Amino acid sequence: MKILPINTKSKRYNIYIGNNIVIKLPKILKKEKINFQKSLIVVDKNVPKNIFKKIKSRYHHNKKLLLSFNASEKNKNFKYINLILEMLFKNNFTRNDAIICIGGGIAGDVSSFAASIYKRGLKFINIPTTLLSQVDSSIGGKTGVNNKFGKNLIGSFYQPDLVVSDTIFLKSLPRREIICGYAEILKHSLINNKRLFHFLNNNLSNILKLKKKFIEKAILESCKIKKEIIELDERESNLRKSLNFGHTFGHAYEASLNYSKKLNHGEAVLYGILSATKLSKKLKTLNNEEYQIIIEHLSKLKFDNLKKFFNKKDIDKIVRYMTVDKKNTSKKINFITLKKIGRYNLKNQLNPSEVRNFIKLNLFN
Ligand code: GLY
Repeated sequence: MKILPINTKSKRYNIYIGNNIVIKLPKILKKEKINFQKSLIVVDKNVPKNIFKKIKSRYHHNKKLLLSFNASEKNKNFKYINLILEMLFKNNFTRNDAIICIGGGIAGDVSSFAASIYKRGLKFINIPTTLLSQVDSSIGGKTGVNNKFGKNLIGSFYQPDLVVSDTIFLKSLPRREIICGYAEILKHSLINNKRLFHFLNNNLSNILKLKKKFIEKAILESCKIKKEIIELDERESNLRKSLNFGHTFGHAYEASLNYSKKLNHGEAVLYGILSATKLSKKLKTLNNEEYQIIIEHLSKLKFDNLKKFFNKKDIDKIVRYMTVDKKNTSKKINFITLKKIGRYNLKNQLNPSEVRNFIKLNLFN
């Protein structure tokens, strides 16, 4: 078991990473000196019943409530926030009580947002159960819900009190879910750590097969990169923007397909990474040799051409989604590009017409 301490300006907390560690939750809480009278356990319906049963059988807290959450982008809304808040109010939770979330990124974002606004904040313990949430959304305190204007447009920054990432959950995930989390691990390596990229490139198949030694190293190294970034820039005023590498394209691809199951978030991010790598070469920030290495890596994952999902008629729609990205501060569209493997450029502002041309000439052939 590894313990990764996170020190942000607003809170210090530990991330526990290991295999079959979630059953030790009561011991971990004691060791961390996290005390509370009451807890609301929000459990994602996708969590395997046998693992949840094991957790429950060891968690003897006498004042616990349960809420089963059917996690989906559609349910990531205020209705569920109100449901959680009402349970807390009806049961007189105080600021010293806790929400414990057992689930993927959506369950984590919803329950941590509720935790952040209930009486201006109560304790939040996150047990992420998907690879994506273990390497990305459980770290750094972004919380939120969707509304009709877009994804994650309402939310707060609220750091948890504890994160327990157990690889035991990953075995129940379909390969597409593993790929989804892998996209963020790959992104972290490309923006920050050449050594990690080569480890991923040399061990891709063992990582995707969840071989213990390989997946644990990939998770830990990836979490270390995110830790480094969010400790320096908790509220995304500068460095944290680098975590959007591949996401300006990726979000627009997801949105253009109406968030259909054809392309899940991580798959869209992988196509986004492909696109941002091509843009890096086009803008001559990345040299050809490193460009080829990244493209070959993506093709091993079978992410090499957008034609499967889009045709040239869709380009206007894709660019329109980019122009309404919440991260834009002017009419131009900003992209994170690579300088080399492990180093990035934060600012590359392009006009929508330039982006349209780039997509037309570079991403559909
Ligand atoms: N997933 C991007 C961030 O946490 O900032």
